[in-house]
This record gives sequence, C-alpha cells and structure tokens, in this order.
Amino acid sequence: MSVANQLEQSAMQYASQAVQFDKMGNKEKAAECYNNAIEQLQKLVKLYPDYTFNRLYIEKVTTYKERIKLLRSEDGDETGYEKFTSFETRHTSTSESESEPQEASEKPNVKWGEVAGLEDAKKAIKEVIVYPVKRPDLFPLGWSRGLLLFGPPGCGKTLLAAAVATEIDADFIQLDPASIMSKWLGAAEQNVAKVFGGARKTAIAGKPVIIFIDEVDSILGVHTNEVGGEVRMRNQFLKEMDGLQDKGKHYHLYVVAATNKPWDLDWAFIRRFQKRVMVPLPDYATRLQMFELNCTQLDLTPDVNLHELTKLTEGYSGSDIKDICQVVRQEVIRELFESGKAFESATKPRPISMKDFQRSISNRKPSVSKEMILSYDKWFDQFKAL
Ligand SMILES: Nc1ncnc2c1ncn2[C@@H]1O[C@H](COP(=O)(O)OP(=O)(O)OP(=O)(O)O)[C@@H](O)[C@H]1O
Ligand SMILES: [Mg+2]
Repeated sequence: MSVANQLEQSAMQYASQAVQFDKMGNKEKAAECYNNAIEQLQKLVKLYPDYTFNRLYIEKVTTYKERIKLLRSEDGDETGYEKFTSFETRHTSTSESESEPQEASEKPNVKWGEVAGLEDAKKAIKEVIVYPVKRPDLFPLGWSRGLLLFGPPGCGKTLLAAAVATEIDADFIQLDPASIMSKWLGAAEQNVAKVFGGARKTAIAGKPVIIFIDEVDSILGVHTNEVGGEVRMRNQFLKEMDGLQDKGKHYHLYVVAATNKPWDLDWAFIRRFQKRVMVPLPDYATRLQMFELNCTQLDLTPDVNLHELTKLTEGYSGSDIKDICQVVRQEVIRELFESGKAFESATKPRPISMKDFQRSISNRKPSVSKEMILSYDKWFDQFKAL
C-alpha cells in the first residue's frame, strides 16, 4: 500500500471512530479522534500536493476543526451532532448498505430551442442519441454510447446535455465530480459501479438514461502522483463504458461528458467516446440569436440594434452575452430604486437603450482568450470524431 493510501486509510479510521464517539456523546474522545484524522489528512496533502482528492481533504480538515471547536465550546453541542454525524457516516462509510450513489437525477427543463446555434453539435447529438432512441430498428449494428462535448467555458455544453435529456424524455443522472469524490476513496469506485448499475436497470426497463458528467477532466484527467484508489475508480469507469458497447445490448444508456480542458484527458478515456464534438464560441448568427433570446423580456428603446450589438461582441461567449444583458437590466432597476419610485406600485424601469448596452460591453472583456481558442482547434484537429 502506498504512503498516500495508508494516510487515507488511517484518516478514515480515525474519522469513523470520531463519529462513533460523537454519536455517543463522548465529546472529549470524539474531538481527539477528529484531531488525529486532521493530522493524517494534513500530512497527506503536504506530501502529495497534486493529489486529486486534496480539495476534498482540505474541506474535511476545516469541517473537523469546526466540529472540534463546537465540541469543546462552553456549552458543548447537544443538537448538531445528529446532522453532522449522519453526514460524516455517509461520507466515511465504505459499506454497501450505507453508501448510496450520490447523483442528482432531477430532470432539467431545457428545451432544444433554448440552445442558440451550435448546429454541428446538435446534428451530432441527433445522430448519436436521438435517432437510435426514436428508431432503434434502423441501427442493426448498434450505436455509440459515448459523447464528449468540449470547448471554451460558457458556450452551452451543459445546456446542450440538459436539452438532449428533455428531447428524448430521458432520465438525467448528473454525476458531479465533487460528489463522486466526496466519497472517501475506495468507495469512489463502488460509487461509479452503482450509478451505472442503477442506470442500466432503468434503461433495461425501457426508459432512456443519460449519465452526464460535467467537468469530466477533474475526475478522469491525467494526474501526476496518482495513487491506488484513484486509478481503480477510473478503471471502473472505463470498464462500465466498455460494458455499454457489447453487441446485442439494445437499451438506451448514454454517457455524455463535458470538459473545457480536453487536453487533460488521456487516450484510454477519449477513445471510449466515439463522438467528440466541439462546442465553439458563438458565431455571428448564434450571438444574434442569443441577444434575441435574452432580450425577449426586456423593454428596449427603438434605437437598440441587435445586429450592432452582435458585431460588438465578436469573441464573447454565450454566458458573457447573458451577463451583458443582465447587467443592463440591473442598471435600470438600480436607477429606479435610487430614484425612490420603485416603492410606488406599478412603476417600471425606463427602457434600455443602445448606450446602456455599449457601456456594458465596453466594461467587459471576453472571458475566452485567442490562445485558448487556438488550443481547442488544435486538440480538435488531433482527436475529432464526428
Ligand atoms: N448556445 C447557447 N444558447 C443559449 N444560451 C447559451 C448558450 N451558450 C451559453 N449560453 C448561456 O450561458 C450559460 C452558461 O452556459 P453553459 O453552462 O452551458 O456553458 P458550458 O459550455 O457548460 O461552460 P463551462 O465549460 O464553463 O461549464 C447558459 O446558462 C446560458 O444562459
Ligand atoms: Mg458546463
């Protein structure tokens, strides 16, 4: 066992002992064990500064410190322990019964039409997911199950994934990297298996399922200083992906992953996503559509020219454009409040003018740089799979 693993294991043992003492009301012992867990975790973080789970462990250290403070405070803590310990039990336990997969399976409600532009990406998604779901009989050779969306931040990757789920009326299981990692190691691998197991059941029962992994680079990327548990978790993931490809499997379970750092992914992972699609910065037509979408509910003066605004925002992302529209809206509302009139019923803010937009745009730089765009193009050339 590597040193990192040993430290992890021993931190985990101390933490679960602490939780037991905490439950029994033995504050002194509990604090002592939390403290021991803290020491192990701090050692780990210091020895392996690049370790993927460090962020989680640093958070744990803070939580345990706060817990110790409460336990040692004058009047102690009689009420909070239940909430705290049940949370920690879930997060420190590796036993089957106690560790539930931690995915959110709520249905996003994004419609296809709310995603501006991105025609290539939409086309790819239709081919990989929508058509096989609607007419599986047309795909005797099977179909791909993995779709990787990559591109600069704020251009619609997350939005697209949500829209697909609505389009095919699928169960949408969002695997948030932080939630996989919020399991102590060892459990992370089981957690992946469980999420896929559950999804498979639903899919076999006839309901399409999309497992969506946002910011996938943070769990499946290449890291220096890897230790056992992490590698096992990634291997489990690769195994699950392979399982989906076996011939003769006709249920609809898809894995859609999104990243804005595709270069952090290794080939083993990349090649399991048969479709790799770039979600680029919006072009002219798309930005125009974005302004239209964002302005539908705004009261504008007649001089506002959306074509002009579209020209001014070359290089801006979808989320930049949304922010620009929000800022101008906030401005007129702020004015209304400052004038004191907002407190009279039915008063409205003044309409938004072209000047307001121009000011908002000039106060805001595009969030994606030219160099970044070049890196995406380069990666796309190397790894594209349409
Ligand atoms: N193509 C688009 N159509 C409509 N709105 C968009 C589009 N792209 C971005 N937006 C707006 O920007 C916001 C952020 O987009 P989204 O979260 O999908 O970006 P992302 O590509 O997933 O970014 P990140 O890489 O940072 O996760 C959306 O909620 C939406 O309001
Ligand atoms: Mg996103």
